[in-house]
Amino acid sequence: REKEIASLFQANELARNFFHSCLTKTDYGINARNYLAHRGITAEIAVKFRLGYAPAAWDKLSNALLKRNLKADILLKAGLAVHKNGGEGFYDRFRDRIIFPICNARGKVVGFGGRIMDQTQPKYLNSPETPIFNKRHILYGLDIAGEHIRSSGQAIVVEGYMDAITAHAHGMANVVASLGTAFTAEQAKPLLRYGAEIIFAYDSDAAGQNATLRALSIVRVLGAKVRVVKIPDGKDPDEFIRKHGIEEFRTLVKNAATLIDYQLQLALETIDHTTLEGKVAVVGKIVPVLADSNNAVEVNAYIIRLSQTLGVAESAIRSELRKYLTTT
Ligand code: CTP
Ligand code: MN
Ligand code: MN
Ligand code: MN
Ligand code: MN
Repeated sequence: REKEIASLFQANELARNFFHSCLTKTDYGINARNYLAHRGITAEIAVKFRLGYAPAAWDKLSNALLKRNLKADILLKAGLAVHKNGGEGFYDRFRDRIIFPICNARGKVVGFGGRIMDQTQPKYLNSPETPIFNKRHILYGLDIAGEHIRSSGQAIVVEGYMDAITAHAHGMANVVASLGTAFTAEQAKPLLRYGAEIIFAYDSDAAGQNATLRALSIVRVLGAKVRVVKIPDGKDPDEFIRKHGIEEFRTLVKNAATLIDYQLQLALETIDHTTLEGKVAVVGKIVPVLADSNNAVEVNAYIIRLSQTLGVAESAIRSELRKYLTTT
């Protein structure tokens, strides 16, 4: 069992090196190199994140690893190879994709993400769950970002590989990716151990916004300090940073909304608060958020702001808050 774990790590490390050489040293890696260059990834950054290229072939990786004395069942267990449908043999899982090695906090390779270079779906293919890879426990980039999260006291959490890499490439080193949209308590734990404030900077599409709300409710239970960046004009951090520069992204992070601000903005944007029903609905959404705060000065300030924005008496909002606090 322990031997198997060691073999899985070994297979992943050899695979990472194989993919990396395919990207950097082969003629057929040219499309992948062009793809990354087109997305603003320099050779230096490709080395730092050990990016790779999985060749457009069925068995190049498997053959290379078998030659290094790895057993077929380890390749299959590591998710690097896939059983042929019904048949005897197996083939490489990752083919003709850009490879993002995924490391644990100690920098050991636990799995891979592979991006297609055109519009084919699915855009990303990841390693399956294995004895060493549980997506819910991994923050992409934590091995590189950890010390910077500790020293800055802030962890910026983004959705994707490219969001994290572009931030690092521009000198923002306290950024990790949750690899998709479902942020988990397990992912929050190392950040809390560093004593960091968690700042979510998810994509500004509907999926990203919904994921932000779910992430907020998870970290709130853990008692984390948390804020939220809203990326303007429908972009993700990668696109935003490449278009506007890292200084503008730093400004967004500096001005990230508090939990209450974010919920208030969202309620005001999504509910028509010109009608009486709308005003009631907004107050109904915000009162539970205010009830969670343990800072009376903060709560008071939001009640005043809400009263002005909605044209509802402060006393009415205070009375709703009291009602909520006594019934829950
Ligand atoms: N993801 C995934 N599988 C998918 C789609 C997304 O695992 N089919 C994960 C990837 O880690 C991806 C992240 O979710 O990086 C965010 O998804 P999305 O915003 O759709 O992709 P981007 O990271 O923006 O991808 P790119 O910039 O390369 O187009
Ligand atoms: Mn997204
Ligand atoms: Mn993107
Ligand atoms: Mn995105
Ligand atoms: Mn600008």
